[in-house]
Amino acid sequence: MKILVTGGCGFIGSAFILQQLSLGRTVLNLDVLSYAGNPENLYSAACSPNYYFAHGDIGDRVLVSGLLQEFCPDAVVNFAAETHVDRSIVDPTPFFKTNAYGTASLLIETLNWWKNLSKAQRESFRFLHISTDEVFGSLSGDEAAFSEESPYRPRSPYSASKAAADFYVRSFHETYGLPTLITNCSNNYGPRQYPEKFIPLLVINALQGKRLPIYGNGTNIRDWLYVEDHCQAIDTVLTRSRPGETYNIGGNCEKSNLDIAYAVTGMLDEIKPRADGKSYSDQIAFVKDRPGHDFRYAINAEKIRRDFGWKPTHSLASGLHDTISWYLANDGWLETIQSRSYKDWYELNYAEPRFEDE
Ligand code: NAD
Ligand code: DAU
Repeated sequence: MKILVTGGCGFIGSAFILQQLSLGRTVLNLDVLSYAGNPENLYSAACSPNYYFAHGDIGDRVLVSGLLQEFCPDAVVNFAAETHVDRSIVDPTPFFKTNAYGTASLLIETLNWWKNLSKAQRESFRFLHISTDEVFGSLSGDEAAFSEESPYRPRSPYSASKAAADFYVRSFHETYGLPTLITNCSNNYGPRQYPEKFIPLLVINALQGKRLPIYGNGTNIRDWLYVEDHCQAIDTVLTRSRPGETYNIGGNCEKSNLDIAYAVTGMLDEIKPRADGKSYSDQIAFVKDRPGHDFRYAINAEKIRRDFGWKPTHSLASGLHDTISWYLANDGWLETIQSRSYKDWYELNYAEPRFEDE
């Protein structure tokens, strides 16, 4: 099986490529290498004879058209996106450009190429679009978890751009018969996640003696899933689902942000105790809330469990343990990231007075 993966140098895309190569699949990775795209994430894939890389933008139609003709994939899996909600609040433009326009462009070129395939090739081809639970909006504490039937109610520039992409994908199936699939997943964590995101930020700030910023009062809830479980679910949908389907993927692991902060600091206290014997939780600090901060996400993943028997295999404890151990063992990776544009982002986001005592 030959797969064109987009955004494969990012957090989830790189985990997916490593998994696919280990299954003997051939992968062409198209990545523009934005601030979040890191070729080092695929260091171990680079020497595989089944791995190819193309540097470029999913919105570049000439490039995408050429790659499709040349590589002739059995599937396109679209991870490429701008992904950080806080950045979408500062500047929504790249989110519209990549997530909405870029995905629509990728669909148009895929359709143009797909139309000329043989009937058998057209039927077996899949376009799988990786999306998010954020398109469904925000839940209150006692509302039922999001199902595949939940209405779209995006509330941030990020989730609005992902919702637009989902609508394009669905429309290409309904209008042109392109065999598309969509997965909407909850919050991922694991190795190689860019440290602007909550869990790696906690781990890294704790180890570097910095404060652990908790937005608002820390009661916002997310449903956490270990990245390898997500990749397993994506592979399942890609290889077993009927075209036109959409699947929710989640960890059945709802935690408040404060719960997560205590889980991470508690585990760090065991794995790498602070030199002064105190708990890393002393570094927790409340900061000004994110504008429009969605209160709660929760995924009902019953459909993928019922249709294919998929369920997560990592508990939060085992997933956090593996994640923290990875960051401890890979300080070179972190050094590269922190010496690049992450520094500018961190300074922009946290250096201004944001903590209560500033
Ligand atoms: P990430 O930010 O770590 O990586 C994104 C990757 O896309 C980078 O390698 C970047 O260089 C690449 N990219 C960005 N714009 C591009 C463009 N125009 N053309 C080609 N490549 C481009 O993202 P992630 O956290 O790995 O998320 C991957 C996908 O999964 C996204 O579509 C995201 O919306 C979705 N998702 C993420 C989560 C999560 O918790 N991280 C949860 C659900 C869904
Ligand atoms: O739900 C899936 C989504 O999860 C993905 O689609 C997004 O791409 C991904 O970024 C993630 O979005 P969140 O906004 O939920 O993730 P983030 O890591 O930014 O924040 C998680 C929670 O932690 C959220 O409630 C905000 C809070 N937070 C975050 C940061 C960075 C803090 O309290 N402090 C922080 O410093």
